[in-house]
Amino acid sequence: MPAVLVLNGPNLNLLGTREPEVYGSQTLADIQARCEPVAAALGWTLEMRQTNHEGVLVDWLHEAGARVRAGSVVGVVLNPGAYTHTSVAIRDAIDGAQVPVIEVHLSNVHARESFRHHSYVSPVARGVIVGLGARGYELAIQALALD
Ligand code: DQA
Repeated sequence: MPAVLVLNGPNLNLLGTREPEVYGSQTLADIQARCEPVAAALGWTLEMRQTNHEGVLVDWLHEAGARVRAGSVVGVVLNPGAYTHTSVAIRDAIDGAQVPVIEVHLSNVHARESFRHHSYVSPVARGVIVGLGARGYELAIQALALD
């Protein structure tokens, strides 16, 4: 059964207690529990990961690209956290590894501080979902099934 990778960047391990008025009260484990049946309904397993380190995200995106080519991964749901707004390396990893990515943000980054309005990732993402909270992850998984 192929897998969908759900990759999360810095500070998302704090979900549940981190600014709940912005990010909601669900933890990453809660989000994983919501996403697993969505992936299963599409015939996929789900691999949920989180790291606070930019280079680890780059390595995971390279791994995802290789696994997409091998047929064992369908694509990546990526919440790069604050690296969204700073990381050319993550943008280049998506482009270089040719990995289908749906970019997700829990909060509506466009309704927040201006430094969150620009994403290095969006131009190389297949699609972008912002501001829908944890449900955005579920929709992003479903989006990977679209032609
Ligand atoms: C975030 C938005 C980013 O601006 C922020 O740095 C995060 C979380 C979101 O999911 O809304 O860490 O990616």
